[in-house]
Amino acid sequence: MMLMKNLSNKRILLGVTGGIAAYKSAELVRRLRDQGAEVRVVMTRGACEFITPLTMQALSGRAVHTELLDHASESGMGHIELARWSDIVLVAPASANFIARLAHGLADDLLSTLCLATTAPVVIAPAMNQQMWTNSATQENIETLGRRSIKIIGPAEGAQACGEIGPGRMLEPEQLLQETAQIFSTGLLTDLKLTVTAGPTREAIDPVRYITNHSSGRMGYAVARAAVEAGASVTLISGPVAIDPPHRVRHISVDTADQMRDAVMLDIADSDIFIAAAAVADYRCADVAEQKIKKNSDDLNLVLQKTPDILAEVARLSRAPFTVGFAAETENLLVNAQLKLKNKNLDMIAANLVGEGLGFNVDENALQIFWVVGNQTQGNQILGNQTLEKAPKERLARQLIQIIANCYYEKKSAQENTIQENTTQVH
Ligand SMILES: Cc1cc2nc3c(=O)[nH]c(=O)nc-3n(C[C@H](O)[C@H](O)[C@H](O)COP(=O)(O)O)c2cc1C
Repeated sequence: MMLMKNLSNKRILLGVTGGIAAYKSAELVRRLRDQGAEVRVVMTRGACEFITPLTMQALSGRAVHTELLDHASESGMGHIELARWSDIVLVAPASANFIARLAHGLADDLLSTLCLATTAPVVIAPAMNQQMWTNSATQENIETLGRRSIKIIGPAEGAQACGEIGPGRMLEPEQLLQETAQIFSTGLLTDLKLTVTAGPTREAIDPVRYITNHSSGRMGYAVARAAVEAGASVTLISGPVAIDPPHRVRHISVDTADQMRDAVMLDIADSDIFIAAAAVADYRCADVAEQKIKKNSDDLNLVLQKTPDILAEVARLSRAPFTVGFAAETENLLVNAQLKLKNKNLDMIAANLVGEGLGFNVDENALQIFWVVGNQTQGNQILGNQTLEKAPKERLARQLIQIIANCYYEKKSAQENTIQENTTQVH
């Protein structure tokens, strides 16, 4: 199967432990990078006996991390930062010893500590002698890890380096690559259509000047990308930004709030989910000057008028899609976000505090998500909520898509139950 840069922008932390199959990890780094992934390598001391960190450094283009308690390597990027950086931790090969340490929650080297510290999915590719693999100690450890949602890929059966034949061979790099790409393609939104807005809008003052805001579009673009990965067909309607649209989205560029509104309304009729991540200008100039305004007077008064409220308009549609808003606030975040959810009759709101390295024009964000539970429409709604801790926007977007998918299906099944109850009552 041909992969089309399926891993672009993914941050993969490759853990290598002490087994013969470590030589295959060198090839794996190349393959992962060919697919667009950024790869950082952490090696156990055992692994360094089988393959040199220099090889992995050359192939990954990054310094390789080997020590937990090493001042020099920790100063560059500590274990917690590496844990946060990763979109996925892939341990290949995973030795019997490492599997046992992971199963028991040990944190006695960099890789095991990282696996405890990360919120990213941990995936392991066991590789060992067949007796070691079938040993009940290893099998019990594997069961424990499976219960903790650690994904185990392989091992394959076949001839082993020790001359034996049986289960225990690490999967080939190509298979590992495909399994890794699969983790990012969840299929959660298969057959659904999404409309996503992103970026700022620009409201002209005169032919050369405009009013705008600091939105970079990164959050909305990451959400669109995560939705595509989850199998949705996505229209991304974007204000002016400096980033490339993700593959496989229908991309519509607009400038102003009015244009964004028109583009959304044209697209929304058959959408199942609307995610409004754009920072749409709230006001525009009542009259745009036809010629460049001259600097003649000390004061200049601009009369501003409200732009259309795209989010509220979509939520008001008689067949409104599942509607998700974003609230970027500098104060009273939670109160304002919940008010916006209620006043605009949204299904969900993702609130983010702007400032101090969060929010606009930065790589990381933290979100507080509120949603209306089930199919409630009016009154004192019961809200669900979840906090997504500070993380790269790509990771947050994937988590958000997961929450949106769950709530979307929950609402749909609640609606279907209501219809069924009503039909039964009529009979
Ligand atoms: C030549 C040789 C090959 C080995 N191959 C494997 C292997 O394929 N899988 C495995 O689990 N252990 C293997 N071991 C044992 C591990 O290297 C040993 O358990 C080590 O402590 C693993 O350390 P680590 O898990 O911290 O990397 C091998 C040992 C030697 C000497």
